[in-house]
Amino acid sequence: MSRLVVVGVQWGDEGKGKMTDYLAQNSDVVVRYQGGNNAGHTITFKGQKYALQSIPSGIFNPTIKNVMANGMVINPKAVLEELRRLNDMGITDYRLFISDRASVVMPYHLALDGAYEGIKGSNMIGTTKKGIGPAYADKYNRIGIRIGDLLDRDYFALRLREALTVKNMELRMLGLDTFDFEPLFEEFIGYGQSLSSYICDTSVLLNDEVKNDSKILFEGAQGVMLCVEHGTYPFVTSSSPASVGVPIGTGIPPKYIDRALGICKAYNTRVGAGAFPTELDGDLADYIRNRGREFGTVTGRPRRVGFLDTVALRYACHISGIDSLAIMLFDVLSGVGELKICTHYELDGKRIDFVPSTVNAYSRCKPIYTDMPVWTEDISSCRTFDELPANAKAYLKKIEELTATPIDYVSVGPDRVQTIAVK
Ligand code: IMP
Repeated sequence: MSRLVVVGVQWGDEGKGKMTDYLAQNSDVVVRYQGGNNAGHTITFKGQKYALQSIPSGIFNPTIKNVMANGMVINPKAVLEELRRLNDMGITDYRLFISDRASVVMPYHLALDGAYEGIKGSNMIGTTKKGIGPAYADKYNRIGIRIGDLLDRDYFALRLREALTVKNMELRMLGLDTFDFEPLFEEFIGYGQSLSSYICDTSVLLNDEVKNDSKILFEGAQGVMLCVEHGTYPFVTSSSPASVGVPIGTGIPPKYIDRALGICKAYNTRVGAGAFPTELDGDLADYIRNRGREFGTVTGRPRRVGFLDTVALRYACHISGIDSLAIMLFDVLSGVGELKICTHYELDGKRIDFVPSTVNAYSRCKPIYTDMPVWTEDISSCRTFDELPANAKAYLKKIEELTATPIDYVSVGPDRVQTIAVK
């Protein structure tokens, strides 16, 4: 299969970075198609930990083309800092391409992200405050700045003046500091110059790669349940991490997408607000949170944790046409005192098998569980399915049965080698 989409099928943080890095070894191109530096992809490589935010996970391999495609919202200052961090860690030989059509995250987007959250008070979304929502809003309101604009002084001046007219009005209304044209203009022209060697029409590049039958890996950020179209709206991000986001976010027609791999934790987590039917608290939650190091890569926030929810998982697989699953952080469940899988919800006294469209209804859903036998063995050095304890195998088989989707990979630790290829 030449063109594979790697999609998070929960609420993000499923371990996509590790799987993309693992699969990138057999890829010619790795592409980010949505989101921005709200993502945090942690990769452990040669014992060293790297937290990538905007840059695709193929960056460690000098032969792979890494593409930040048009569907992304890019904070150029943050990208330059990320490149500097990679440089400091000795990663200097890489191939990076940034779409001239990708949207730019401007400082006023960061200010507005924080302000909107403040206004929402107890209904706040719990965003990463990276300006993602306001940047996408401007894109669709047609007052966004695009990466290619930064390379043309006259055109960028026009675009920025137009944007600032609106944005400064908005900032003033919210009692926030406004932005002066001149320093902002020069700052972003500078970023454009620093990034100019990477900027191109990535849709042309990618369609050429398709023609050459290159192996392309599309790296989703966040997860399907955070999709602005299909997720638990409004507690979602502002883009479409589902595989349906690939064509629009890259300029590659849908007919060229061959396969979708769903990345799924062996349990569930969620950062930020919003309903979470299988959420746990107390010692059980602490056990999973601590063993899984469930603290946000971008914000450091402790993640909410819960039992695996296969109602949401079935829905996410369905939305994204998932062909097979990778079960991540499976080693975390060793020694857990109690283990359950959610098979259905109960909503207002009725057993249901779908994700309701409103958060109101979703927050009334109670999980219906099937109990699973636990295991105590450390499985982090297992390298084949057969080496796993019987109860661990039964857990995986149950996921396959409940999702009607085969499991291709099982991750039993952060390192690339701690991956079981099931087939
Ligand atoms: P935003 O993407 O910063 O606007 O945040 C919107 C929602 O998506 C919040 O609940 C965030 O916590 C969540 N979110 C955004 N990016 C990630 C991610 O990479 N992993 C997990 N949650 C995320």
